[in-house]
Amino acid sequence: MRLPRLGHANLGLGVGLRTVHYPHILETKPNVDWFEIISENYMDSHGRPRSVLEQVAERYPIVMHGVSLSIGSTDPLNFDYLSRLKKLAKTVNARWVSDHLCWTGVAGRNSHDLLPVPYNEATLRHVVERIRIVQDYLERPLVLENPSSYVAFADSTLTEWEFITRMAAEADCGLLLDVNNVYVSSVNHDFDPEEYIRSIPHERVVQCHLAGHTNLTTHCIDTHDNHVIDRVWELYRLAHRLTGGVSTLLEWDARIPPFPVVHAEVLKARHYMGSDDDSDDDTEIEFAEPFAFDTPSDFRGRSKTVPQPALFVTAEVE
Ligand SMILES: [Fe+2]
Repeated sequence: MRLPRLGHANLGLGVGLRTVHYPHILETKPNVDWFEIISENYMDSHGRPRSVLEQVAERYPIVMHGVSLSIGSTDPLNFDYLSRLKKLAKTVNARWVSDHLCWTGVAGRNSHDLLPVPYNEATLRHVVERIRIVQDYLERPLVLENPSSYVAFADSTLTEWEFITRMAAEADCGLLLDVNNVYVSSVNHDFDPEEYIRSIPHERVVQCHLAGHTNLTTHCIDTHDNHVIDRVWELYRLAHRLTGGVSTLLEWDARIPPFPVVHAEVLKARHYMGSDDDSDDDTEIEFAEPFAFDTPSDFRGRSKTVPQPALFVTAEVE
């Protein structure tokens, strides 16, 4: 029987460390429980980002979240990448290292996107074998996140939650449950997000992600550019109850508002940590007004290309 969260502590409510917030964080030392970094933004940096990270790591717990492992690809695993990942994890005392259940390229070409895999027995064997190799190399369990997706494969024979459940058991890895991704994919593929969250192995969930998305009515896109919607908060309430409470992180990666707005957003999670019938119980949570972006026309102009998580890597690196 596995320890809850694979023995990892519940770090509380954290936010992603983003370049635009460096001055605020260094000057005010906000009362945030922990920070998550995009691993690739710091692995090869020895300039200001790395200096800031090391200052932040002295004060706050750090979790590393990668976008380039490409665990589902048929390309060989990149041991040069894994070596640099392992080194950074040691330097910043990363509490755990996560990435996505996806592939990001093939034949040496990087798509700069987090692409879904077919959910079937052959993919399961392939992914499980690679996770085991990575875990042996990193000398720690890998934590893998459910992706948001926009296409599905005709030769999938398992649901995503069935695949993830078997993957976690057979590879003996942890899970990062991105509640917003579950919602986005449930709209795009017409499945029940509650069934998904009820079905995964809760004792293996090390962390939750929350984020905002863009609803285009015909489908949703995981843009990380807005407040978390109510339906996702309700799914988070369910996830919190079933997991017993895990480290929770808000991702806000495009049209990023000032740090206090991002921090206030993740603190809303406290309101959803009660039981289902606690929703009328007004605890001491102050909900800030939704953040007003510069101008609607500015947003419309920039939203012609919709940001994707993997693109934030190049956007963030200095
Ligand atoms: Fe996420």
